[in-house]
Parts: sequence; structure tokens; C-alpha cells
Amino acid sequence: NFTPNAFVDDCVKDLQEKVGSDKVVLGLSGGVDSTVAAVLLHKAIGTNLYCIFVNNGLLRKNEFENVLEQYKGMGLNVKGVDASARFLDALAGVDDPETKRKIIGNAFIEVFDDEAHKIEDVTWLAQGTIYPDVIESISVKGPSATIKSHHNVGGLPDFMKLKIVEPLRMLFKDEVRRVGATLGIDPELLGRHPFPGPGLSIRILGDITPEKVRILQEVDAVFINGLKEHGLYDKVWQAGAILLPVNSVGVMGDERTYEKVVALRAVESTDGMTADWVHLPYEFLMKISNEIINKVKGVNRVVYDISSKPPATIEWE
Ligand code: XMP
Repeated sequence: NFTPNAFVDDCVKDLQEKVGSDKVVLGLSGGVDSTVAAVLLHKAIGTNLYCIFVNNGLLRKNEFENVLEQYKGMGLNVKGVDASARFLDALAGVDDPETKRKIIGNAFIEVFDDEAHKIEDVTWLAQGTIYPDVIESISVKGPSATIKSHHNVGGLPDFMKLKIVEPLRMLFKDEVRRVGATLGIDPELLGRHPFPGPGLSIRILGDITPEKVRILQEVDAVFINGLKEHGLYDKVWQAGAILLPVNSVGVMGDERTYEKVVALRAVESTDGMTADWVHLPYEFLMKISNEIINKVKGVNRVVYDISSKPPATIEWE
């Protein structure tokens, strides 16, 4: 029987023993796991925890600024690094989904490594790894395969030579949320939908341009804010919008338009391994569709994804 209070007490004590007065660096993503890991460590070692939050230019609209503010409000020692241009430059002209993921993974490692270097005498790397991640990496990929695949032996970035501390590695997601609640983390942050590391890049089918990112951020914001306003956000496991690589004909006044199509996706799931599309109310879909087409320049058609996983995946790439 899991008791979050007891977990926090034990974990803080363990962390203090393990880390002592050493410095720890941690990458924040805005997600639940890295945030809870950071707050636990902060409770244990205070300002010896150095958090880094990287803007890869593929986050949701205003997410970087908003989440950074929120982290600062929580007393975390966090440095926001806006590396948008670097990621978007590296992605220019790339349309293959796995290549996008590799480019983003590599760019993240480079940016994080540069930043970690600026912290004198740091000896630990903290991660928000949770139990399902541990299982998955052992059974599917082998430990650390994801990171190793990008780097030859000997070519490892320096931060990877750090000792690893993973305070949540024995916890399931719901337990992480309960620990977060015990730690006083904002329920809104704890209830956030999962968001993939490669961000909007895998929701822009085909190549990525700053203009496409802008369009998708606007569309996504209308959809997500709409879900919140209509009390639907917490009934959905994950939701987002996808920018399709086709134009369709429309009409505006007496002008013919030829503009982008976006798909909306909302799923119910427990772990992301299987998922059902959510039967969002027609009234809601109608309102959101109108709002997107009226507000977002460059989009003249909205479709709703009614595919479940399997055989479809949650993301389109
Ligand atoms: P799929 O599309 O495989 O997604 O049904 C299942 C869950 O995983 C997320 N996802 C990713 N998360 N890096 C991530 O950190 C990725 O490359 C990635 N691809 C998919 C997806 O958002 C969903 O929650």
C-alpha cells in the first residue's frame, strides 16, 4: 500500500545520504515526472540542484515562458535556455519522422551538455525516470539504448559521465502524481496531458518551417483551451492537433482559398500502449472547428481523427 507522505520522507533522507553536498543537474521538460523529481531533490538538497529547461522551439504556444515562470514560483533553481533556432535550423528540410527524432535528441544532448558544463563541479545527473520507463528500456531497447544509439563509445557527452540519480524509478505514474500532490505541486501541472519529447515536430507531417510551427501552435492552443473551458480536458488522456501536408480548397467571401488542413486527436488511455478515440460532443467540435478556421490564418479545414490504437498510433508520425 503506497503512502506518498512516507515515500517523500524516505526519499528525501535517501537523497541527502546519497548526494550529500554534491551538485546535481536535472533537465526539466514541463511534464509531471521531471517536475516531481526536481521538487523532491530541491526539498532534499536545495540550491545544489541545478535545473535546465530547454526550449526546442516545438513546445506548445507560450509553454516555455509559462512553465518557466511556474518553476521559478516553486522556488526551483532553474535556467531556461531558448535553443529554438538551433533545433529548427537542424530540422530544416527533414521530413522523415525517425530522422526528426534523432536530430532533436542529438540537439538536446548538445545543448544540455553545454549548459551542464557551465555548472562548476557538478557530479550527478538526476532524471525523472519512472518504473514503466525502466521496464521498457530493459525489455525493448536494452538500458540506455536510446541515448547510446546517437553516440559512439568515447564520443559520449560529458554530462553522461555523471553519476545518475533517479528518485522515481520505482513508481508508477499515478503514484508520481500522488507524490506531487503531497509536495504541494499545482494540480493543474500534475494533471497535464503527456506531451512527446520531439514536441510539435512529429505533429507537423512533412518538413518543418517556423510558419508551420506557428500555425500548429495556434490551432493546438484553441483546441486545448477549448477542452479546458468545456470541462473536457481532464476526461481526455491526451489531445493535440496535427498539421497535414496537404492544402484543400475552401471559400471565403467570394474568394477561393487553398490552405492547410488540420486534424484534431483526443484519446482515452491508461498507459499509451492502447488508446480509444474520444467521442467529443459534436457541439464542441463544431465550435472548435469554427474558432480554428476563423482565428488561424492559413487553415481552412478541420478534421477529427476517429482511429483507435492499435492499429493506428496516437501520434501520426
Ligand atoms: P504512439 O504514437 O506510439 O504514442 O501511439 C504513444 C505515446 O508516446 C508518445 N510518444 C513519444 N514520446 N518521444 C516521446 O517522448 C517520442 O518520440 C514519442 N513518440 C510518441 C505519444 O505522445 C503518446 O503519449
